[in-house]
Amino acid sequence: MRRILTFGTFDVLHIGHVSILERARALGDRLIVGVSSDALNLSKKGRRPVYPEDDRLKLIGALRCVDEVFVEESLALKGEYLRQHRADVLVMGDDWQGRFDEFRGICEVVYLPRTPSISTTEIIEVIKRVP
Ligand code: CTP
Repeated sequence: MRRILTFGTFDVLHIGHVSILERARALGDRLIVGVSSDALNLSKKGRRPVYPEDDRLKLIGALRCVDEVFVEESLALKGEYLRQHRADVLVMGDDWQGRFDEFRGICEVVYLPRTPSISTTEIIEVIKRVP
């Protein structure tokens, strides 16, 4: 049983999110996703997500490739979450390339390429421009 863990906000669900989750799941037998809390996002990105955390957890948990979801309350607890969930592999998008190498003592760390030309931030901007 190879357990894969990944983290993210996953606000305004888009194809880049589903694509990375499907590729992450394909690396093992079980995919666990830490969805960052509203409070964590406010402190990290300076804005509250469009979809509240309960909805983001429900959406991500409803995907066929996802086996389990939990709320990521703090960036400082990443190592704890990896141990708690007995992760064999940490998957992150390559926008984070190298930034999670410190966890190589706990599990494998794999960076997957992001889907080009789409992000939650960009979708919000596009919607704002709709007349
Ligand atoms: N992701 C991806 N391809 C994209 C956008 C995101 O593979 N085009 C991945 C990220 O690398 C991360 C996960 O999806 O592993 C969750 O990313 P998140 O930050 O929630 O999504 P973004 O669209 O990047 O959000 P934002 O614009 O708010 O930063």
